[in-house]
This record gives sequence, structure tokens and C-alpha cells, in this order.
Amino acid sequence: MKSDIFAGKQIYNFFFQQKTKTFFLKCLFKLIILYFSIYGNYMNLIFIFLVQYEFNFNLFIQDAFAAGTDTTTSTIVWAMSELMKNPSVMEKAQAEIRESCKGKEIISENDIQELPYLKLVIKETLRLHSPTPLLLPRECTELINIDGYDIPKKTKVMINVWAMARDPQYWTDAEMFIPERFEGSSIDFRGNNFEYLPFGAGRRICPGLQFGIAGIMLPVALLLHHFNWELPNKMKPQDLDMTEHYGLAIGRKSDLCLIPTVYA
Ligand code: HEM
Repeated sequence: MKSDIFAGKQIYNFFFQQKTKTFFLKCLFKLIILYFSIYGNYMNLIFIFLVQYEFNFNLFIQDAFAAGTDTTTSTIVWAMSELMKNPSVMEKAQAEIRESCKGKEIISENDIQELPYLKLVIKETLRLHSPTPLLLPRECTELINIDGYDIPKKTKVMINVWAMARDPQYWTDAEMFIPERFEGSSIDFRGNNFEYLPFGAGRRICPGLQFGIAGIMLPVALLLHHFNWELPNKMKPQDLDMTEHYGLAIGRKSDLCLIPTVYA
């Protein structure tokens, strides 16, 4: 009887002492946050950001922000640069968006599913301007032999996806911006086509792939839908400087300056 009372007291203490309650509450909140981050929209990212300090999510959030901001923004800027350099592609992309979103006041994530040509534009942008041209470093876990070369265990391996995506052996007119090359093609960025790996491959493939694509397509769709764009000082498309600058993600060396006029 005595031991029963002792056990009951221990169980009571375990469930109701402040520390345990806080622990369970934290687990519950983490599950809610995970749910929102998987099934939610952009607002939920802000929600996650606000509660991160409270619930020790710092590292996870910092990782996602560090890996997801420069990559996404540099791709948007490169897409706009390539569209300015290739007016016929710009025309086709704008025609698609304006036709598909005719009469809509607000364009949402759902609407961009109906923009197959814009998706090709983004794919081609990521081919020529992969934000992480050498992926993340890898390390050999065992001695291997590739093409007669012994690669010792623990060798650091960098994968040059930039060169692979421009290799004329795999791409016709490799240096040209031709979104149509992906039309009806099974080549995708999910890590199965080794000549095209903007998001990496294997176990380290970018976990933000889907979010990244949506985060690029929507802003570009809005920019193309609401504005017409011109180069400043009567600059010709072929004169637009496309020099790259190496940073956290590969961006433009010079800022992209464009003149928007509202499309009514
Ligand atoms: C244009 C958009 C993006 C591109 C091109 C991109 C590309 C990449 C690449 C190439 C890697 C390395 C994969 C490998 O080495 O195989 C990577 C890793 C990563 N990405 Fe992205 N990413 C993008 C957007 C995002 C977004 C929006 C997030 C998060 C919200 C994100 C989160 C991460 C994280 C956390 C890693 C590290 C994974 C690890 O440590 O293994 N990325 N990304």
C-alpha cells in the first residue's frame, strides 16, 4: 500500500511538475510548427520566425534562412536579366501570364501552376545560373576508383554542376537561353539527371526545393504580370552585363537596373 502511494506520487510529480509540463508544451508547439511549415503558406514562416527563440529552433531556422534567401533572390534577378536579354522569351512569358490570370486581382500560388512556360523559363535560368555552382562539399567514405583514378577515403569532393549544365556534350547551344529545350523533356531538377543538378542530388539534395521553386515563380509571375520592363539609357539587350559575382550564392556582379511601367 505504501509503495502504491509512493508510485502514485511519483507519477503525479512526473506529469505535473513544471519542468515536464513545459517539455510537453514545447513538443506540442514543435509539432504545430512542423505542420504549418509543411502545409502552410509564407505567413507561417513569419510565425515560425517569431517563436524560434522561445523554442530553441535557432539552428533549424538559421539554416533554412541562410540556404533559402540568397539562392531564391539571385535566381529571380537572373531570370529577369535573361528575360531582358531575350525579349521574345519575355513576350511569350508575359503573354502566358496575362492570358492565364486575365481579370484576376490577386495572383496566388495556385495560379502559377497554370504557367507551364514560366516554369520552363525558371528551369532554364537555373541551368545557366545555378546559385550553388559547386553544391555543398562531400567527403569520400571509402577508397574508390573512378576512370582509373584512385580517390582516397576522406577526400573532399566538389561537384561542378555549373560546368555540367553547360557541357555541349549534353546540351545543344549550351550557352544560349532557350527555355523551350525543356518542353516535353523528362529532364528535371530532382536529382535524377546528372547533367542538370541545380538543387543537388542524393541524400543532401536541397530540402527547400519545392519552396524555392514557388518562391521564385510567384514573384517573377507578379513582376511580369503587373509591369512592362525596359533597360535604362536606351541600352540594347545584348549589351546587358551578365558577369557573375561569387558569394553565398552566385549573383550578378553589377546591379540589375530596369525601368518598370505599370501594365493596365
Ligand atoms: C533557387 C532556390 C534554391 C536552390 C537552387 C537551392 C540549392 C541547394 C543546393 C544545390 C544545395 C546543396 C545540395 C547538395 O549538395 O546536393 C542546397 C542545400 C540546402 N538548401 Fe537549398 N536551394 C534553394 C532554396 C532553398 C530554400 C528556399 C530553402 C529553405 C527554406 C533551402 C534549404 C536548404 C538547406 C537547409 C540545405 C542544406 C541541406 C544539407 O545540409 O544537407 N534551399 N540547396
